Amino acid sequence: MTILVTGGAGFIGSNFVYHMLGKYSDYKILCVDCLTYAGNMSTLAEAMKNPNFKFFKTNICDRKAIYEIFETEKPDVVVNFAAESHVDRSIDNPEVFLQTNILGTQVLMDACRKYGITRYHQVSTDEVYGDLPLDRPDLFFTEETPIHTSSPYSASKASADLLVQAYNRTFGLPVTISRCSNNYGSYHFPEKLIPLMIVNALNDKPLPVYGEGLNVRDWLYVEDHCKAIDLIIHKGHVGEVYNIGGHNEMRNIDIVKIICKALDKPESLITYVTDRKGHDMRYAIDPTKIHDELGWLPETKFADGIQKTIQWYLDNKGWWETIISGEYQNYYEKMYGNR
Ligand code: NAD
Ligand code: TYD
Repeated sequence: MTILVTGGAGFIGSNFVYHMLGKYSDYKILCVDCLTYAGNMSTLAEAMKNPNFKFFKTNICDRKAIYEIFETEKPDVVVNFAAESHVDRSIDNPEVFLQTNILGTQVLMDACRKYGITRYHQVSTDEVYGDLPLDRPDLFFTEETPIHTSSPYSASKASADLLVQAYNRTFGLPVTISRCSNNYGSYHFPEKLIPLMIVNALNDKPLPVYGEGLNVRDWLYVEDHCKAIDLIIHKGHVGEVYNIGGHNEMRNIDIVKIICKALDKPESLITYVTDRKGHDMRYAIDPTKIHDELGWLPETKFADGIQKTIQWYLDNKGWWETIISGEYQNYYEKMYGNR
């Protein structure tokens, strides 16, 4: 089996690459990533040593280059992680979100139609459902919850989901979609809440909490997300959407305080800053469907996952220090530039 993973130099995509290489020694894993600011080739350094792994520095919007990869490599399955993923950046400049997240998805699916695949899997997000009120803890996102987006990021992901469903209905493309809650774990780019707070705390820098820090996210350890996608591409039903989440709702402020405590840093580092525009209040996934149909359950409890994550950032200072210095963006050229 040959699996083409897009966005594999990013946070979840790289964790998925390592999960698949570790679990299936007879699979070929191809990675397509154009290495935006969020892609880090040093993350894939170990994978590059594996003969079952191949990397293409390619933009998913580049139709010609994508078709060439399909023509020569003939992937059986495509898992699309490639995306602009940061809500704050989408508020600053939505354009590239529409290009990559919507048009890039279209190019990949056109290639799938042209060359034939057994499955196209779209990695989507719970943010396509909008948000839930804080005073209704009985409400959860199910796969039937209407799409109702808040940010240019979530609107672009929702648009892509609609396109994926249209390609299934109109062209019979064998697709699946997963909508996961917030992930945390290793290789998470330090612009998102958890890695930013860890890195800033380690550097004794202010910890910028938006608004009052009362917004709730449903946190899932990244490896549990990877295992869920692995299950969906092998056993999930074509045309279906699967929500992924572990019933682990936490307020932002409580997460930041846990990080301060674990690193023995004072809570006086916490700084309340201007709230995000259109800030979603609460996300909460109902994962009944993936549990009942595919037997998936999260394995890592938050208390353990956050300790493992903090330890990873302590053990891999070099990884995030080169991101802060900007040096990581030269890594690909330096290591693989003349191949
Ligand atoms: P990320 O920003 O860490 O990584 C994205 C990767 O995609 C990077 O390596 C980047 O270089 C690559 N990329 C971006 N544009 C590209 C393009 N045009 N062509 C080729 N490669 C491109 O993102 P992430 O957090 O790993 O998220 C991966 C996917 O999972 C996204 O689709 C996101 O919407 C979804 N998702 C993320 C979360 C989360 O908590 N991080 C939760 C649910 C769903
Ligand atoms: P983020 O990690 O950007 O994920 P998302 O917005 O996709 O859920 O943010 C998680 C939560 O943390 C969100 O409510 C915004 C908040 N947040 C802060 O309070 N401060 C920060 O510096 C960041 C990046 C996020």
